Amino acid sequence: MSCQKKLLQQWKTSSCRQRCLDVRSSLEFQTCHIQSSTNIPFDQLKKRMAELPPKNVPFALLAAAATEDKQSIDKTPFDGGAQWLRSQGWHPRYVFQPGEDPCFWPKAAQVVGCSTNTTKPSILFRPHALLQDSMGLITTALPGRRTILDIGCGSGRDLTWLLLQQPTWHGTGVDHLAGAQERFGSMTASLGDRARFVSAKVMADGTWKSTERLLTDGGQLYDMVMTIRFFVRPFLPILPTLVKSGGLVVISHFVDIGDYQHPKKERRLRQGELNRFAEQMGLSVLVDRLEWIEDGIRPVQSVILQKVV
Ligand SMILES: C[S@@+](CC[C@H](N)C(=O)[O-])C[C@H]1O[C@@H](n2cnc3c(N)ncnc32)[C@H](O)[C@@H]1O
Repeated sequence: MSCQKKLLQQWKTSSCRQRCLDVRSSLEFQTCHIQSSTNIPFDQLKKRMAELPPKNVPFALLAAAATEDKQSIDKTPFDGGAQWLRSQGWHPRYVFQPGEDPCFWPKAAQVVGCSTNTTKPSILFRPHALLQDSMGLITTALPGRRTILDIGCGSGRDLTWLLLQQPTWHGTGVDHLAGAQERFGSMTASLGDRARFVSAKVMADGTWKSTERLLTDGGQLYDMVMTIRFFVRPFLPILPTLVKSGGLVVISHFVDIGDYQHPKKERRLRQGELNRFAEQMGLSVLVDRLEWIEDGIRPVQSVILQKVV
């Protein structure tokens, strides 16, 4: 049995079977690809790192053609992508080189299945655990076609994940960084007009500056507003004013417990602050959890609050 076929079989029974990053060109991907794989052409990887799996999670890599004359992003001879990913801390555990084996695609079709369908995108990243764990609760609280606002959205991973779960929902991401806008554009490309970006800056006094009148969607309030790892204290009371009655306010941020450096104390939630806020604003608490992020040092409090009808 050939090495590539053996490797395909090992990957098929591994815990990372659902994760395959294909760094060939979009045209090559459209011609044939492994089912449920994700195409990020190698020359776009540096800008689209937010779409990759967490660094501690192994995945399969469908490498681009290795060539002597082309150079990698980091100027070393190009090996198809694995070397660069490893140098950045990712774990491509199963590396397939279709360019080096003319029979690769028939083998892949036989072992893991191939496709030419690019309409149903697969994602490699994970959303915030609060969203993943609470999706049942969120869809029960918000049935039907819904609008979501994500403030301090960054590359828009959480919003993208939500909209992929709920094909009738629409989302707006808000951030003040031009780089975030660019990453958001790549991340949400497959969602078409269901995702839009608004460039806006939340000011220290809780007001915001935006070129668009944007914290409402078509003049309507949103069904859900979320703000994850973005916190400006005077902006907190604004959040419930952006959602409809019965809508949800989702907040997750670092809380001031224990000894850590970043974010600074004044930029952390105080203990009990979110609970007092919910009480003062008349919001009911559907979820309230305290957990530590991957470094094991910094605690975050995550809540889902509902604006009482
Ligand atoms: C730590 S990141 C979190 C991104 C995303 N919510 C997540 O959890 O992956 C904070 C984001 O808030 C944005 N941000 C910071 N200050 C802001 C402000 N004053 N107004 C708007 N966006 C801001 C940053 O550009 C960044 O994308």
